[in-house]
Amino acid sequence: MISFGSDNHSGVHPDILEVFHLANKGYAVGYGEDRITIDAIGQLQDLFGGACDVWLMMTGTGANMVALQSVVASFHSIICADYAHINVDECGAVQKFTQARLESVKTTDGKLTPNLIEPLMTGRGDEHRSQKKVVSISQSTEYGTAYSLKELQELSDFAHQYDMLLHVDGARLANAAAYLDVTLEQMTKDVGVDMVSFGGTKNGMMFGEAVISFRPELTKNLIYYRKQAAQLFSKMRYIAAQYTVYMNNDLWLTNARQANAMARYLAERLSDLERAKVVSPVQSNAVFAIIPAETVSKLQDRYHFYVWDETSMVVRLMCSFDTQEEYVDRFIKDLSSFLY
Ligand SMILES: Cc1ncc(COP(=O)(O)O)c(C=O)c1O
Repeated sequence: MISFGSDNHSGVHPDILEVFHLANKGYAVGYGEDRITIDAIGQLQDLFGGACDVWLMMTGTGANMVALQSVVASFHSIICADYAHINVDECGAVQKFTQARLESVKTTDGKLTPNLIEPLMTGRGDEHRSQKKVVSISQSTEYGTAYSLKELQELSDFAHQYDMLLHVDGARLANAAAYLDVTLEQMTKDVGVDMVSFGGTKNGMMFGEAVISFRPELTKNLIYYRKQAAQLFSKMRYIAAQYTVYMNNDLWLTNARQANAMARYLAERLSDLERAKVVSPVQSNAVFAIIPAETVSKLQDRYHFYVWDETSMVVRLMCSFDTQEEYVDRFIKDLSSFLY
């Protein structure tokens, strides 16, 4: 069954699958002390403009909770969007590991802005209140939107003005970079991001996320939290080798461009249908659309996808690196046949 359910539903890019055989030769020291990992870390540092520390993790949830844990104390709070993955889809992992409070802000498009956060900025120095320490955003967002460089700079300026940090959940950083047509360095380091994860799993890797800190002086303890959180993979070379292929020839970008192009194509085709409506700008690999309720279960017999909002019948259709035009065509053809 073709899936538009999640970019997680795709398999592994063949070039990445292939590298497991290459990495599988002989012995290698564990826990990241091997040559493949050391080289991949160096390459990741270069990709993000140098002067940063990089750690490899196994999951996106792990990357978020370990990164955040390294910079907050239990009396802190982390500001995030209402739909943020850390807020709604990580089973409270960030709260559990950081012991900090999450303060979520209602957004219309998944994006935080200084104006939306400003009203929360009370109680600084008040011992009765959690102290705001981090603004955490997702790039691209859970709503398929991407922050522009200007928006990122405004957020980091705002955070720094209040002695806070800007953390970016980059499970889909590649999709945002492809959409914005900028380098990873330009969209992170150059606009004042303090910490970011660079996801691999949703974009063609089997597993692996890289956490990058542009404030190494603040994240010295991250290695200990990574171990405690069971994110220190002993056979690290298998995550690292995947990253090497992911970075070589910009595979991460090629994959993200394909996923984004398919999402744009799907949105265009949906817009041609009178009874379907795309409800969020397509700025990554996600399409949010309203389709008539009576077609949903019929379509779900043939395609995997999720209803995002039952009341308005907004569905979320995700494309990935291996989505093909013909899958979109087939989906639209079936939808049309149920409609007319
Ligand atoms: C924005 C975002 N961040 C983090 C994650 C977590 O990734 P994982 O499922 O690998 O823990 C996801 C997964 O869906 C995600 O969409």
